[in-house]
Amino acid sequence: MTIAEQMPITKLPQVVELAGYQDVKHNFEDFSRDPAYIEVNRELIEATFAKLPDNFVWVDLAAGTGLIAHELIRLCNLYQKIGRVIAVDLSEFAVESAQKRIAALPDNQFCTVDYLVGSATDASEVIKIFESQLVDGQVDVVSIHDAIHEIPGDENKKIVFEEAYRLLKPGGRLSVNSAFTTTAMEGVRVGWGKWIAHARRDLGLGKSLVEGQVDYLSPEQYETMVREAGFDIMELGSTDQKLTRIIKVELKKSALVAIANYPRFAEGAIADGLSSGKTLDEIISTLQSKAPESLTRYWFNMVGIKPHKGGELEHRRV
Ligand SMILES: C[S@@+](CC[C@H](N)C(=O)[O-])C[C@H]1O[C@@H](n2cnc3c(N)ncnc32)[C@H](O)[C@@H]1O
Repeated sequence: MTIAEQMPITKLPQVVELAGYQDVKHNFEDFSRDPAYIEVNRELIEATFAKLPDNFVWVDLAAGTGLIAHELIRLCNLYQKIGRVIAVDLSEFAVESAQKRIAALPDNQFCTVDYLVGSATDASEVIKIFESQLVDGQVDVVSIHDAIHEIPGDENKKIVFEEAYRLLKPGGRLSVNSAFTTTAMEGVRVGWGKWIAHARRDLGLGKSLVEGQVDYLSPEQYETMVREAGFDIMELGSTDQKLTRIIKVELKKSALVAIANYPRFAEGAIADGLSSGKTLDEIISTLQSKAPESLTRYWFNMVGIKPHKGGELEHRRV
């Protein structure tokens, strides 16, 4: 039995109407195993892992189906570092899926993973969960990968960053990425538009004026929020380092089929689909059948550092 297998899932008493929006049929599982998606996250995780002390604590917000915990277990085994990961997601299905994924790893001797089904239609609910689990200022890393755009509204996004700041040790890191910023489709919007237009035509829907569910903020807006929460922003993107602020990612057809199976993506792409009487099943299978051979997407990476007293960063580079 691995360490991870022994850890139960904690559920908040007020679990949520949203907890069920991923299910066994429609979920993030396949995309979280896509090689291009793993790679773009791996770069960010490895850069942060390299700076971690032994015996670290990493809180993974909106952890989904466990990609970050999976990567951390791999790295802990490789470098014999001991860690505790707390994986929080509002989807009960996702948390159970993460737990299964981690329990199935043959060799986890160094990393404990706790699982939390966090309520939330807003981020402050997520934060309440941590308060029962952790003492402020004990955490080395808080991550929120590919999910900040799903936290509704600027105020709730700011709460996530502020609470991350409160949890972190001085010198601790906030690790954020998103493929839903204003730069995500720069120069490649036509390709994405064609995919959606072909799916809309097959679904019998006209041109949509309805906005999707996801907030597209600019990288600068996110950086301002993170600075306002008290963090310094790590410089990324110099020529002598791998990790850049904006990363170009080629998503193959298999990745597009996988992301179409994530309800939030499908409902955002065909924003008036459900209200026009289409089922989620129809929307997803139509998007999948119309997926092109590949599309480019630009990921935004951001690393915040909680300053030591006095405010100056010791190391500005990853
Ligand atoms: C696109 S997935 C990314 C999952 C994971 N971070 C990864 O990179 O594999 C977004 C996840 O955010 C979760 N989520 C959205 N809003 C949330 C919230 N307010 N609190 C916790 N989780 C949330 C969703 O349930 C979903 O599992």
